[in-house]
Amino acid sequence: MPEFILLISEQEIKKQLKKIGQKISIDYKDKDLVLIGVLKGSFVFLADLTRQISIDHEIDFLGASSYSGTSSTGQIVFTKQPDLKLENRDILLVEDIMDTGNTLLKITEFIKKSNPKSIKICALIDKHERREVKIAVDYSCFSLEKGFIVGYGLDYDEKYRNLPAIYDLKL
Ligand code: IMP
Ligand code: MG
Repeated sequence: MPEFILLISEQEIKKQLKKIGQKISIDYKDKDLVLIGVLKGSFVFLADLTRQISIDHEIDFLGASSYSGTSSTGQIVFTKQPDLKLENRDILLVEDIMDTGNTLLKITEFIKKSNPKSIKICALIDKHERREVKIAVDYSCFSLEKGFIVGYGLDYDEKYRNLPAIYDLKL
């Protein structure tokens, strides 16, 4: 049986999202903000984050998949493209977790082709140990050195996304 060790509680997530939402609202005041949620892992995070942002903004989604089990397959497949026009707009990519950084690097390169005014990254978790590319998280809610976590949208083979808090998964 897998073991779930509580890492970040619902209350801690809520408190941190409030802070990050306020910061985004200040930084993007007078800008043309579009949040792009990276599917599927960001859906819970994005739903809570958008409600902590007080300025007008639009929401879109991009589907990217790279993981099978607890290790990256190294290949990123785009399963959904954004519907909104992104040209000359301020894009904030919303991702569940940055691990090696390969997914967000490829997504950033892909979004750049639409000629946005700016692109920044907001990640629920910035996980350091396996970083392979030089890419910065502009808005990081939580930092983690290593481990494999689930819950609050994050999955292990498509399961455990529904857990309301973030857990360290011991298989
Ligand atoms: P990267 O390309 O290695 O940065 O991988 C990013 C993607 O891997 C994330 O969007 C997640 O879907 C997945 N991932 C990385 N680490 C974890 C984890 O600890 N739990 C669940 N998914 C993870
Ligand atoms: Mg995933």
